[in-house]
Amino acid sequence: MATVILGIESSCDDTAAAVLVDGKLRANVVAQQLEHQTHGGVIPELASRAHVQRIIPVVEAALSKANIEKKDLTAVAYTQGPGLLGSLLVGNAFAKSLALALDIPLLAVHHMQAHLLVHFIDDEFPTPKFPFLGLTVSGGHTQLVRVNDASSFNVLGETKDDAAGEAFDKTGKMLGLPYPAGPVMDKYAAQGIPKFTFGKPTVAGLDFSFSGLKTSVLYFLREQQDKDPDFISNNLYDLCASIQQAIVHILMEKVTKALSETGLNQLVLGGGVSANSGLREALKQLDTNVFLPPLPYTTDNAAMIAITGHLQLQLGKMDTLSSEPKARMSI
Ligand code: KG4
Ligand code: ZN
Repeated sequence: MATVILGIESSCDDTAAAVLVDGKLRANVVAQQLEHQTHGGVIPELASRAHVQRIIPVVEAALSKANIEKKDLTAVAYTQGPGLLGSLLVGNAFAKSLALALDIPLLAVHHMQAHLLVHFIDDEFPTPKFPFLGLTVSGGHTQLVRVNDASSFNVLGETKDDAAGEAFDKTGKMLGLPYPAGPVMDKYAAQGIPKFTFGKPTVAGLDFSFSGLKTSVLYFLREQQDKDPDFISNNLYDLCASIQQAIVHILMEKVTKALSETGLNQLVLGGGVSANSGLREALKQLDTNVFLPPLPYTTDNAAMIAITGHLQLQLGKMDTLSSEPKARMSI
């Protein structure tokens, strides 16, 4: 009998469902909530309401695309956390109800673990072997982790303030870019020269800090705008290239250190910022095996939840119907 997993992701502003059959992806549906763009960030109350409206159509679309009926499902995997509580609750309630109605196992998945384990989807893209070094870079997280197996993760370092994605989004906002600014900054950076330099953080060990960069950009822009009120529009591409380079440098410094300290020879990337072309280029120069997720799997998706559920099921790591969503959750 085939192992058929339905994955559900609702941790932030994307409602997503995916179907995995014996580790192979059969459907991956994401409904993006564009209503947040005009607010400069995700509005939690709007996000949870939109999840309520979209979760049933999204799951139905994934099942029909995969040509799978509910009775064929082996288990249902959902994002337990971390994320926005109201958003997580929608996925949690839906997954529990479905597991109860179909009398199948419930698999509670950690969103950031899933960003790293997406590489285990059985298809054309290369799969790492345990153990490996993981770098999670998203809108809410920046961590270096040693991944021992699909259920054992040791944090080696993490951000002390903003996440890498937040650094893109917040500095992008200062430049007048729409939310989320990361993808736009990436596009503009490709047309600019990184000619401006900003203060570098001094954080011990394998931890990161991005708030100093944010402040440095803010003061720099104020100073320049006093002299030229159109400084941002006159230098937009170069500013984007410079900020992106500064963020990439901060990440690369700690990645290099972690690889040399741990002796691990595989680096696995996960999270929205792993789509960044500057970061992807810099990582390709490393003398180690680098696993970059294909672009559609960099941002939030349910395929990553389904594969993590699949691996957890193999390890016998099932949850019960008293499973609760968790806004904060260590990896
Ligand atoms: O993993 P993700 O989709 O959601 C979270 O779990 O946070 O990551 C979203 C973050 C946002 O901060 C967004 O600006 C950033 O990923 N991002 C990028 C790029 N694409 C998405 N940052 C830089 N360059 C990109 N190409
Ligand atoms: Zn994410």
